[in-house]
Amino acid sequence: MSIGVCYFPEHWPRDRWEEAVQEMADAGLEYVRMGEFAWSRIEPRRGEFDLEWLEAAVDLVGEYGMQAVLCTPTATPPKWLVDERPGILQEDADGTVKDYGSRRHYCFNSPAYREETRRIVSKLAEHFADHPHVAGWQTDNEFGCHGTVRCYCADCATAFRDWLRKKFDSIDDLNETWGTTFWSQHLTGFHEIDPPRETPAGHHPSRLLEYHRFSSDSVVAYNRLQADILRKHNDEWFVTHNFMGQFGDLDAFDVAEDLDLVSWDSYPTGSVQSTEEPTVDDYRAGDPRQVGLSHDLYRGALGKPFWVMEQQPGDINWPPHSPQPAEGAMRLWAHHAVAHGGDAVMYFRWRRCREGQEQYHAGLRKQDGSPDRGYADASRAADELFDLAPVDAPVALLHRYDDLWATSIQPHSPDFDYWDHVETYYRALRRRGVQVDVIPPDRDLSDYAAVVAPSLYLAADALADRLATYVAGGGHLLCGVRTGEKDSYNKLPNAPQPGPLADLLGATVDRHETLPADFETRVTYDGDTYDYRTWAEWFDLDGATVRGEHAGGVADGTPAIVEHEYGAGSATWCGVWPGTDLADALVESLLARADIERTPVLPDGVAVAERDGHVWVTNFTGSPVSVDVPSGTEWVVGSNPIDGFDVGVLKADPAEVGITVADSERS
Ligand code: GAL
Repeated sequence: MSIGVCYFPEHWPRDRWEEAVQEMADAGLEYVRMGEFAWSRIEPRRGEFDLEWLEAAVDLVGEYGMQAVLCTPTATPPKWLVDERPGILQEDADGTVKDYGSRRHYCFNSPAYREETRRIVSKLAEHFADHPHVAGWQTDNEFGCHGTVRCYCADCATAFRDWLRKKFDSIDDLNETWGTTFWSQHLTGFHEIDPPRETPAGHHPSRLLEYHRFSSDSVVAYNRLQADILRKHNDEWFVTHNFMGQFGDLDAFDVAEDLDLVSWDSYPTGSVQSTEEPTVDDYRAGDPRQVGLSHDLYRGALGKPFWVMEQQPGDINWPPHSPQPAEGAMRLWAHHAVAHGGDAVMYFRWRRCREGQEQYHAGLRKQDGSPDRGYADASRAADELFDLAPVDAPVALLHRYDDLWATSIQPHSPDFDYWDHVETYYRALRRRGVQVDVIPPDRDLSDYAAVVAPSLYLAADALADRLATYVAGGGHLLCGVRTGEKDSYNKLPNAPQPGPLADLLGATVDRHETLPADFETRVTYDGDTYDYRTWAEWFDLDGATVRGEHAGGVADGTPAIVEHEYGAGSATWCGVWPGTDLADALVESLLARADIERTPVLPDGVAVAERDGHVWVTNFTGSPVSVDVPSGTEWVVGSNPIDGFDVGVLKADPAEVGITVADSERS
């Protein structure tokens, strides 16, 4: 387990570097990430390279017993390059060119930019190939940040046409597959296809989905270009990329195929402000389930420990509000990441910057170099954490970017949000202290006792066969709304929903509706009545048993939740977007059937996670919590009760852990 930091030596006078690096080593840090936006310092003018300063910084890091993680600087092409080759700039759907002056202004499909990328990455890789203190590389920085995965320029038009030519046998094949008769969209050749730029009404959903796929594939190819160059120079380096939390435009699973290590950037008090009504505690420490979902997704991406490449170090500049995190929150986040399977936590940044766009962003040190609160937290985390085996999760939650894209193209309700719906089930699993791998549906599922598939929207025969094999072999599956509603090209199939999954789920959809929040929406489940929201389906049965019915409305008395015994396992299908209580009941029934150990339902803001025989209790609330465990249980970190924003690590079985909140009112 390692703690590290992101450092920008180029922002500080050279005579200050050694002191800084020594302070890093004193805090017990092991890795220092550098270089991600430094192109104009590395190559101030075309062909004039200056790598001496970066090498000196890496040398220093090594002298103090740490390792460097270097980054390719491609997120910030310098001004001279933009002026020479303005075609590298991104273009919006309305034709606006994204100008120089911030970052991420390049197009992934620009042949000119790919050429420049090859040049700068090769130069760096060659220079550092034999350096003993470079552990690995981060490609670029946060692909897609600031809404930059999808570009609409002329280079993208050419690349999109080529991408489609490879995918379809002929233009007639494409016309047929997308269904272009509608609104006179028949095409006579691939040359007629442009990126989906501004139109009076919405674009064809099949074409849009393809553009989302193509744009993501463009980033995958761009990342691969960099990864291949780095590996060619030293195949012992790890290659990683720092993804963002719950970012939807880019298929992180696809990008990960070219990485050795997946990492992501965690800013809990920023990301929580995208949720509906953050509590005061959320503003101070974030929401452990929201952060946890990203930890579990990026762990799931390669099925191995991930890194947090940027961990919030204190107050930050970019969310609407910028509260100071609670005392100890920076340490709490490191423990929480490790409990979810993280192997390293790198704080962003070392020192608050005195210039440029991010002056209102804390570092572990203040602007004058003196320690800020994050420094003590990072140092304490470095001291407390210890090496652990990877997480072994009994449950898989299936997530696929195609489903996210397709449902976002036709949400069919202003309230239908893919991540929110996924989170409904994820939170219910986490409220029982269960470790969850968030993985794509084409992975081997045989080791999971239970699988939750909140939104398998696009269904093909191969997927249906795989899930049927899993359940027939004794697996337990729980599916949510919109399962099997469309085919792989975002078209309704010539069969009732759920298309090829009907045999496994033992039911089909008779009708569906979406409803505003002020409608009363109720269903029964095993004799109790529950709320649901936004989306309702009602089923015709074909082998399944009714577990719940609609209670009121036009669907009153029709099947809403069904269960199908299938081979040695079972498949449950919930045809409504469940409220919290119904999600808890569905998940409890699933975990019981699959015989998975679990805690009693945990309070909001308190997380329990087991890794390698240790149980982490991370308290993201301001109130102390008592942990009920058998007497004699060994506490490795902390003690009972656990204070607000504090952590306990115990040698225990999660099923033995109960939590009592001292003051049950969350502030
Ligand atoms: C990240 C980014 C960093 C920095 C940070 C500020 O998204 O990778 O470069 O901008 O946010 O919180």
